[in-house]
Amino acid sequence: MAILVTGGAGFIGSHTCVELLNTGYEVVVLDNLSNASEESLQRVEEITGKKVIFYKGDIRDREILNKLFTNEKITSCIHFAGLKAVGESVEKPWEYYENNISGTLVLLEQMKKFNVKNIIFSSSATVYGNPQFVPITEECPKGTCTNPYGWTKSMLEQILTDIQYADPEWNVILLRYFNPIGAHKSGRIGENPNGIPNNLMPYITQVAVGKLKELGVFGNDYDTPDGTGVRDYIHVVDLANGHVKAIKKLEENCGLQIYNLGTGCGYSVLDIVHNFEKATGVKIPYRIKPRRAGDIATCYADAAKAKKELGWEAEYGILEMCEDSWRWQKNNPNGYAD
Ligand code: NAD
Ligand code: UFG
Repeated sequence: MAILVTGGAGFIGSHTCVELLNTGYEVVVLDNLSNASEESLQRVEEITGKKVIFYKGDIRDREILNKLFTNEKITSCIHFAGLKAVGESVEKPWEYYENNISGTLVLLEQMKKFNVKNIIFSSSATVYGNPQFVPITEECPKGTCTNPYGWTKSMLEQILTDIQYADPEWNVILLRYFNPIGAHKSGRIGENPNGIPNNLMPYITQVAVGKLKELGVFGNDYDTPDGTGVRDYIHVVDLANGHVKAIKKLEENCGLQIYNLGTGCGYSVLDIVHNFEKATGVKIPYRIKPRRAGDIATCYADAAKAKKELGWEAEYGILEMCEDSWRWQKNNPNGYAD
């Protein structure tokens, strides 16, 4: 009885492996290491004192999936594997559709072949586009995505919905993540972006550690309290625990379910800078820059449905998210290359 975690060597995947192992699940990871290091899985084993079964390979590779499903007793899959850089997806749409959509179709085909019909999919608040209302409930209509990455999430939600409708033996949970930050308390696993980070928190921690000079704040003329963009930042360990709760929901034969995983609190870019400084004592120089194309003003969750139906709720506050992001960065200035 094992859980297949595709993309399990990545940021959210590695934290989810820790929580699954700590809850007593066996974990099998499939990852092609295109955006991760095997070192993260060694550290997952070090943190938990438990073994991770690792297949280095691609979700588009039928042969390795065939081997994996033949050898391991998989009951459910948590599907993290995918490319996720918004800007890159605009430059390389084909690669994004091919990796994320074709890859998921191959994975689903092999799951079906081996009669494994339980899947949790990593979706994103990006599917709401510029949301019609905040806080965003799951009933909020999906919107127009501003980049191919976002469309892969939106389209895969539809594909999974249609598959579950056609064959109700499937149990599908679409988890719409808000903005995951933070790291495991041990400081041993965390977010390890390639090159210059696109996302706010890794950019801030790299300024703090001296790798980058200053933060660019993308716009201060939004319709928000201080003019900078407002997001719902969620601790990655809370997010990981949301997956453990979702696995339990799958085990109840839940059909198709959609949950927002967020805290329900919105923080602006400057709120994050100030909280980071307060939590760590490190000053973050910043400069106001023009708006970033495709950004929206405000995005935060109504997470009541996950609380009611999964018994899940975020526990960590913004100061702990900042402290934990910083501990990881400070102890591993070059990520897993240290
Ligand atoms: P990540 O890049 O750290 O993890 C993704 C993992 O998938 C990596 O380890 C990568 O090597 C692997 N991978 C990519 N393509 C693969 C393929 N074809 N076959 C096998 N492995 C492959 O990213 P993350 O932040 O941990 O995100 C995990 C998932 O959550 C992704 O699907 C992402 O789109 C989604 N998500 C992330 C965020 C966020 O802000 N981090 C927000 C919403 C949704
Ligand atoms: N920001 C800056 N400077 C930076 C980076 C970001 O000011 O150097 C601002 C952005 O303009 C935005 C906020 O910080 O207002 C958060 O930006 P991120 O890039 O960290 O996150 P996004 O909300 O743009 O997007 C993230 C993921 C998406 C995911 C979405 C879900 O990158 O993949 O959260 O809500 F879909």
